[in-house]
Amino acid sequence: MDKQYQYIETEVKDSIGIIRLNRPKVLNAINRQMVTEIVTAYEYFDKSDKVKVLMITGNGRAFAAGADIDEMTNDDAISLEILNQFVEWDRILTIKKPIIGAVHGYVLGGGFELALTCDLLFAADNTKFGFPEVNLGVMPGAGGTQILTRIIGKTRALEWLFTGEMMDVQEAKQSGIVNRIVPEQLLLEETEKFAKVIASKPPLSIRLIKDAAKKALDYSLYEGMQYERKNFYLLFASEDQKEGMKAFQEKRPPNFTGK
Ligand code: CAA
Repeated sequence: MDKQYQYIETEVKDSIGIIRLNRPKVLNAINRQMVTEIVTAYEYFDKSDKVKVLMITGNGRAFAAGADIDEMTNDDAISLEILNQFVEWDRILTIKKPIIGAVHGYVLGGGFELALTCDLLFAADNTKFGFPEVNLGVMPGAGGTQILTRIIGKTRALEWLFTGEMMDVQEAKQSGIVNRIVPEQLLLEETEKFAKVIASKPPLSIRLIKDAAKKALDYSLYEGMQYERKNFYLLFASEDQKEGMKAFQEKRPPNFTGK
């Protein structure tokens, strides 16, 4: 354990940097301090030589039931503008290593937004996703309307955003939000197993694949293809490219070093 936090727990296990949201009595409602802690832990793991893959999960009966409503009740527009709290969320989008979410129970509002910033999502069979902000007279503020719409398309996203209803995990999988549905008691085990598969790959390839795939959301196809090509060329400056191809020719497993 490298750092102490108030609202999250962190651990490094087999090259996986794990973050656990830890306010179970309020279903891991995300207050501002928790966001700061999550981003700090992500950035710490992103720079750590001991970590290859990041994982985020929640303690208790939910991943997270949204931003902390009690903290927001008395906010006003100008103080929110000055506070500029969502700049912390933007920093999550700059993390270079893969992030895998392992979610269960309620994944609502800001909790859903946090899950949507993961690169891959494993979900327990009891997971419910939703954006109930509309029922509070507000709307998602940490990227929900943007990221959900990019993943599942405007028509389907607006149904969930307009109604605030919860979608079950099967629907989330069919919509492309969830990679795998796992029995709740196996959620962490199965997610860690998968994280280890990614951790066994050459880290520079993983890094530049994530970097290029993210551009598909912002760039035209032509611009994205040009960007991908530069990353492809860049990997030929790595020792792992030499090792990977040599190992193939010598019919032996590669020994990747991350250089
Ligand atoms: N903020 C603050 N506290 C919350 C919370 C939240 N988002 N979600 C749950 N809690 C608290 C409850 O107040 C309750 O606390 P007490 O025991 O002190 O009363 C505790 O967590 C347990 O919750 P419930 O008793 O309500 O549990 P339940 O099983 O009956 O219901 C639930 C679960 C349906 C998720 C319900 O808690 C709920 O509707 N929560 C709010 C969901 C929501 O509206 N989220 C959106 C927040 S706004 C947002 O996220 C904005 C953004 O984009 C940044």
